[in-house]
Amino acid sequence: PKGDRGPTGEKGAKGDTGDRGECQQNNLELSPYFLALTFPNGKIVGDKIFMTSGYEGNFDDLKKKCMQAGGQLASPRNNEENAAVQQIVFTHDKSVFLGINDIQTEGKFTYLDGKPIVYSNWQPGEPNNDKGIEDCVQVFSTGKWNDKSCDERLLILCEF
Ligand code: IPD
Ligand code: CA
Repeated sequence: PKGDRGPTGEKGAKGDTGDRGECQQNNLELSPYFLALTFPNGKIVGDKIFMTSGYEGNFDDLKKKCMQAGGQLASPRNNEENAAVQQIVFTHDKSVFLGINDIQTEGKFTYLDGKPIVYSNWQPGEPNNDKGIEDCVQVFSTGKWNDKSCDERLLILCEF
């Protein structure tokens, strides 16, 4: 219910001495201003914002564009974040590249900083490095992951 919130969704702004961290985070997700700003191209999960601009390109291109914007390619680290990615893929009916690949060492998927992934949601049978050329990771509208050639042109999805 929106009734017990102020116009920015704040709870007890005056004299609020409670746990500011969690309180502010919840307010951000509930704020109608943020809901409006992210619709239909973004999702807020905790302190992370996933956002697409609608641009499509290959992995290097999308990686660069996210970095230039001050973010990085979407790198979901749990089910909740992956569900946000899935929703954006579903809404746009276009799959996206994650900020995850095994370019460095075949079969060892890492984030863009080179650290091994802590979460995955592979489609059964994946990753299969089909034709020996699949080092990047795409997300289907089911939320499942598939390794895919980094040369494919997919929808950009950054996280901030
Ligand atoms: C391939 C298949 C395969 C998957 C590959 C895809 P294609 O598509 O869906 O199961 O592992 O990543 O490239 O080449 O048969 O259209
Ligand atoms: Ca594959």
